[in-house]
Amino acid sequence: VPDHQFADVELASLYDVFYPWDSREDMPFYLPFVMAAESALDLGCGTGMLLKRARDEGHTGRLCGLDPAMGMLEQARKRKDVEWILGDLSTVVFDGEFDFVVMTGHAFQVLVTDDEVFGTLESVRKALKPGGRFGFETRNPTVREWEEWTEERIDGTTTDDGIDVLMRNSVGSVEEDLVSFTTTYDSPSWQEPRQSRSTLRFLGVESLNSFISDAGLVVVEQYGDWDRSPLNDKSPEIITIAGRGM
Ligand SMILES: C[S@@+](CC[C@H](N)C(=O)[O-])C[C@H]1O[C@@H](n2cnc3c(N)ncnc32)[C@H](O)[C@@H]1O
Repeated sequence: VPDHQFADVELASLYDVFYPWDSREDMPFYLPFVMAAESALDLGCGTGMLLKRARDEGHTGRLCGLDPAMGMLEQARKRKDVEWILGDLSTVVFDGEFDFVVMTGHAFQVLVTDDEVFGTLESVRKALKPGGRFGFETRNPTVREWEEWTEERIDGTTTDDGIDVLMRNSVGSVEEDLVSFTTTYDSPSWQEPRQSRSTLRFLGVESLNSFISDAGLVVVEQYGDWDRSPLNDKSPEIITIAGRGM
């Protein structure tokens, strides 16, 4: 069982099939921020959907996608008009280079330890130009979305090659704010199912906001959903736009 589905080239190739642009609320939310920024960094860019779209819509500045998973980056690298870098902010250092840094698809939740959360936020601040912004979201722990990630809920899709693939999740453990689960992919065309294990952190808004300010960033906007509704205990998301001071 691979540690993470995103390192696996074949599973990574299924990502955009399961989560196409039209199924995503985060992408249209962040796209205008990218378009308005002269230079943008997509941290944990995955298959690179957001920056590819920004280029398609006429962005002419620097677009840089960074991701530590080779499988995902291989998908992104099919497009040559965006800069793609393998790694994360503990291995790649940027210094005052971006007007906008973004983490989409709940990528922020893969940061599980305090050191990873704080280190990433600090490196984001460093990567931003004075006055730059960081946009990202994390699932609100108060709605306990992981309780819906049960084996009865099966998602299915068909690849471009006409192969039907089914996906289901099973939560293994919930310890404090860490949720560990297994995702199983299966297809009548495969000899056996493929599985991946992941752990995500569900930081509450108070802890999140103290990490943000400890890292020298300021919360500029915070919402509970993609329609920009205010955050409360029933909100599915904690969507934050944080700023680096001048
Ligand atoms: C759920 S995917 C989201 C991908 C993409 N942002 C999207 O919205 O489609 C999470 C991504 O986070 C990446 N990731 C893992 N560890 C990371 C880290 N320390 N910093 C940034 N990204 C990381 C994974 O490789 C994966 O591509």
